[in-house]
Amino acid sequence: MKISIIGTGYVGSVSAACFAELGHEVICVDIDKSKIDMINAGIPPIYEEGLPELLEKHAGKRLSATSDYELAIMNSDVSFICVGTPSDSEGNIDLGIVRAASASLGDSLRKKKGYHVIVVKSTVVPETTEKIVLPIIEKHSGKHPGEFGIAMNPEFLREGKAVHDFMHPDKIVIGSLDKKSGDIVASLYNGLKCEVTRTNPRTAEMIKYVNNAFLATKISFSNEVGNICKLLGIDTYEVMSAVGKDFRIGPYFLNSGAGFGGSCFPKDVKALIGKAKEIGYEPRLLKSVIAINEGQPARMVLLLKNKLGSLEGKNIAVLGLAFKNDTDDIRESRSIPVIKELLDEGARVSAYDPMANENMKKLFSGIGYYSSAADALSGAEACLIMTEWDEFKSLNKEFDAMENRLVIDGRHILVKPGKDIEYVGLCW
Ligand code: UDX
Repeated sequence: MKISIIGTGYVGSVSAACFAELGHEVICVDIDKSKIDMINAGIPPIYEEGLPELLEKHAGKRLSATSDYELAIMNSDVSFICVGTPSDSEGNIDLGIVRAASASLGDSLRKKKGYHVIVVKSTVVPETTEKIVLPIIEKHSGKHPGEFGIAMNPEFLREGKAVHDFMHPDKIVIGSLDKKSGDIVASLYNGLKCEVTRTNPRTAEMIKYVNNAFLATKISFSNEVGNICKLLGIDTYEVMSAVGKDFRIGPYFLNSGAGFGGSCFPKDVKALIGKAKEIGYEPRLLKSVIAINEGQPARMVLLLKNKLGSLEGKNIAVLGLAFKNDTDDIRESRSIPVIKELLDEGARVSAYDPMANENMKKLFSGIGYYSSAADALSGAEACLIMTEWDEFKSLNKEFDAMENRLVIDGRHILVKPGKDIEYVGLCW
């Protein structure tokens, strides 16, 4: 099939490359010319494991990029909306980019003779496809469903593992108003051995939000238990390791610590909270998931102040700036509120992250950035570990250079902290 992908962020560029790998012809559409040029040159516009190889293989052959919506629509049968859905100041979803993309698609659809399917892949709150996207396309195209198809096909991609997750899904969800649209979208995934869940658009939208909200809830639940365990001198990881053996619970996403960051969990849980309140329901549990998560970074600094007293003028090393390992992405990273509070307390911060230094400099230009953990630790009076980078697991002699060997671990990452350091776990 011929596919067009609107938006070349990590969902759009990964989906484009993977659909090309599955044998489809793919045209990416973006307003950012630099991204278009990179994709056409076979260079990934974002960091994703496995993406460079796919773009090199398919760019200029099955895969191309353009800023021209009309060209893309005229030369494809299915268009995926993969644009961003950021939060507004209240934490509710901002559908501005989705609206704009829908209007542009509708304008191009007006000129197209044949049948065309529009698929929403962006994470949108329930009812968006039917009540926002569909009316805009009808208005701009002058056509009605039946003359074109509309569907909702959420992604379940982890940042850094998005290519793997696309090619090895444990579920494919397709919400459509009619069988024909859903069948066409389902056929695009024929190359993947995976059960396809067919439903309506709002259920597909809800499945995505509940998937993320449940994972976030598992983490905040583990953190609440972890905070209690800490007061009892119990290691949460021992507790959750046993609890995770229950086949109804499973061992994943039970890691307590500094909490969840990233461009999805915080945004999606808040958007679901916003949607629930909009329809008159008070989502108390979901609100507590956010509240617990937002409290974890402060607990790191509290542990530090309990140990050191005033932080005024003290040099504190922060190891890990990215929101998780194997990415340079600092969006909602738990180290952001920690660094802010350290600076508010008058501390000096020495930071190191294997990939995210440059991105954090855009937020905090006045702190020290180092090219290794050892350099960041030199002369520090304490160290906070904020991101679960594999290279932090083996840290040991690097702590010798510290002025005071106090290590507060927010990710249960240190395997052998070494007997001559004071090791403090956030929830263990
Ligand atoms: C998540 C979902 O996993 C993915 O399915 C969805 O499509 C997008 O959002 P991502 O945000 O890339 O993916 O990262 P993920 O690996 O899920 O981790 C999210 C955050 O939770 C990270 O900050 C991580 O450090 C934290 N985390 C994860 C925990 O604190 N504890 C855990 O047990 C697992």
